[in-house]
Amino acid sequence: MALIWPTLVVIFIVYAFYELLNNIQNRKRYPPGPKGLPIIGHLHLLGKNPHHDFLKLAKTHGPLMYVRLGLVPTIVVSSADTAEKFLKTYDHIFATRPYNEAAQYLAYGQKNLITGKYGPYWRNMRKLCTQHLLSNQKINSFQSMRRQQVELMIKSLKNEACDHRVVVDLSAKISSLSADLTCLMVFGKKYMDEDLDKRGFKAVIEEAEHLAATPHLGEFFPFLGVIDLQGITRRLKDLSKVFDEFLEKIIDEHVQSRDQKQSKDFVDTLLDIMQSGETEFQFDRRHIKAILVDMLVAAVGTTATAIEWIITELLRHPQVMKKLQKELEQVIGLEKMVKESDLENLNYLDMVVKEGLRIGCCELDVEEHFGLATSREHPLMVIPTYRLNNA
Ligand code: HEM
Repeated sequence: MALIWPTLVVIFIVYAFYELLNNIQNRKRYPPGPKGLPIIGHLHLLGKNPHHDFLKLAKTHGPLMYVRLGLVPTIVVSSADTAEKFLKTYDHIFATRPYNEAAQYLAYGQKNLITGKYGPYWRNMRKLCTQHLLSNQKINSFQSMRRQQVELMIKSLKNEACDHRVVVDLSAKISSLSADLTCLMVFGKKYMDEDLDKRGFKAVIEEAEHLAATPHLGEFFPFLGVIDLQGITRRLKDLSKVFDEFLEKIIDEHVQSRDQKQSKDFVDTLLDIMQSGETEFQFDRRHIKAILVDMLVAAVGTTATAIEWIITELLRHPQVMKKLQKELEQVIGLEKMVKESDLENLNYLDMVVKEGLRIGCCELDVEEHFGLATSREHPLMVIPTYRLNNA
């Protein structure tokens, strides 16, 4: 036991030395960047908002900049042209995802889409999800459900804010609408907060996002991963049990009630695929659960955050809000509710949503911890400069 720490220190020094030599050899292949320190690289240059710090550094070193985060060489991209090269032109080279603890525990060993490794499995799984879960036909089949839920929310807003004149927490309303819409589409019914865990849906999903986004010492100094100094692996293991028990329960419920159903939610569709045995790759309960976690995590927070951002921007720009209200009044009228089929006639609303997504960059900046950290095999940071310049 007494030998553990000296052994670890020796391993640390040897490994760090090896990585440094490697980095020095590779240095010529990297773009310019600020001067770093031994072992920690450029970590000392980063504060609470790394994307702000990267942007400042990029102003001196250019839109394609090299930094080393601990032992990990990283390229920081901060212009639209360069980002396009990485994310579009050469996307196939940079698209794959590295090993990552969160994906290991929450996505059943990277069997999902969001953190899955780029390759035949990912391509096939993506095709399958696009064809069966995210096709227009499937999404349209939930239209009346979406309408009902939005109507319910509007009724409750009217009741609380208009009739009873109480202050309404709009973020909480939007968040619970988003969770309800997602649960109904994915699982076929709403779940109460405590069905997932006593902390509730929002808190659990936020913890998953938080743990996945928290800078993990083991990612900057891989040999430190096993020690789990920050307790992240332990928390991920606990969280994965919460998700797994919940998903197992849902799959069991679906298996039991399959014959009595008219409309199919995502779980039914995935069970059909599993039982058909027609996939070109192994497809069992773990794959179903990995995709369900993806859908849950990908849909709940993003949708709520996008709506919140857009409403915030509208409040900050009253003249835009007025113009939008005018369009709604003229095209729909004051007494009617907007239907999904009306959306194609609401051009100004379309522009507002697109602009909101562009400047809010919602999914990519969930907690304002990062600009856009694309967790790619070759670490790559993309900085949304518009938002930062206008902060
Ligand atoms: C306003 C809402 C949304 C925003 C802004 C958003 C944004 C994004 C972004 C930026 C990515 C790419 C991430 C990357 O390349 O690493 C992504 C991927 C994904 N999103 Fe969304 N999303 C939203 C809503 C949804 C919803 C409602 C669902 C499902 C019902 C969903 C399912 C997915 C899936 C499955 C992926 C992975 C796709 C892949 O890797 O090919 N998203 N989303």
